[in-house]
Amino acid sequence: MAKIAVLPGDGIGPEVMQQAIKVLNKVSEKYNKTFEFTFADIGGIAIDNHGTPLPESTLRLCEQSEAILFGSVGGPKWENLPPAQQPERGALLPLRKHFGLFCNIRPVKIFPSLIDASSLKNELIPEGLDIAFFRELTGGIYFGQPKEINAERTMALDTMLYTKPEVERIAKLAFEAARLRNKKVTSVDKANVLMSSILWRETVTEVHKNYPDVELNHMYVDNAAMQLVRWPSQFDVVVTENMFGDILSDEAAMLTGSLGMLPSASINESNFGLYEPIGGTAPDIAGQNIANPIAQIMSAALMLRYSLAMDAAATDIENAIQKVLDEGFRTGDIFNKNQTGQTLVKTDQMGDLIAERI
Ligand code: NAD
Ligand code: IPM
Ligand code: MN
Repeated sequence: MAKIAVLPGDGIGPEVMQQAIKVLNKVSEKYNKTFEFTFADIGGIAIDNHGTPLPESTLRLCEQSEAILFGSVGGPKWENLPPAQQPERGALLPLRKHFGLFCNIRPVKIFPSLIDASSLKNELIPEGLDIAFFRELTGGIYFGQPKEINAERTMALDTMLYTKPEVERIAKLAFEAARLRNKKVTSVDKANVLMSSILWRETVTEVHKNYPDVELNHMYVDNAAMQLVRWPSQFDVVVTENMFGDILSDEAAMLTGSLGMLPSASINESNFGLYEPIGGTAPDIAGQNIANPIAQIMSAALMLRYSLAMDAAATDIENAIQKVLDEGFRTGDIFNKNQTGQTLVKTDQMGDLIAERI
């Protein structure tokens, strides 16, 4: 039995989460493994129901679970609340910090049958696309103190702060991962401007001494943003600080066709994990049963792989997704009306199609 905290959140969160649960139920049957799903409120819905974005009961549930399956939080309804009470600042960031989820892995892969959905011309991705972003998730400008806005609202301050151990631990995991892949790490920073990036670059270079079999190169973040759309196949593992990783991974998502395709795993030092799509609550399409549930379903697959030692089941899910895409089924975000052989499907139909192929 595996106890899983399920936090659907806001916007499209509940719609796509329902599809992930559907797929996990099929996995449960096939592998004769019981999942105990406990749903709890977080984010905007928790503000509405409990008056706080991160209720104590939700936090306790997460502490008592083997993994957290997370949807997304936030939306226009709550964005004018005082900063500390907003869903993102008041729930998601504290949750990441509480569990020390410093390592956010964002795999960016392109499914062969989706190559035409990529924002890039096919000839720019001749070798396909398989990048693993290692985004530092509990430090940097997101959390550094001081962090303030004055009462007159004429001056505001954020602090980009890193300590050496914080950089060392994420660098180590990035090198370890590269060893099992194409043995290449690109460390992205802004060492020509930021002091925290000088420390970042020095520390990554030092950690690299223990991984002589892995190639390391450093790249400034502005160049990295450009290289991602110029020639993305040059990247294998990308390791970077919190905010750079946030921005670059959304950019990279479009190379795979849609933000709705990309999952993530956020892990701490004892391998406890939270699994969530890299995108948000998509208020523009919420409640219409048209969101792409694949990012959420793939996040469930990552949970099986990293937290529940069910690698075969994770691969089953990924294969089922590949099959459905090969058969031409598409949600609106990846649908190409100029191509024949495609069937436009709704969120719940996509969930059914993937579950049927497990
Ligand atoms: P967003 O990621 O929600 O949406 C950006 C665009 O991508 C929209 O056009 C949306 O329709 C599209 N999109 C995203 N996911 C999709 C999916 N599964 N299928 C199809 N299309 C999809 O970003 P935003 O609009 O900047 O933010 C909306 C809200 O979500 C904000 O409150 C933001 O803070 C929050 N957010 C939360 C998380 C999280 O909880 N992890 C992540 C990002 C943004
Ligand atoms: C993400 C999101 C979050 C982040 C926001 C909602 C706090 O954009 O998970 O990428 O910036 O980390
Ligand atoms: Mn983001």
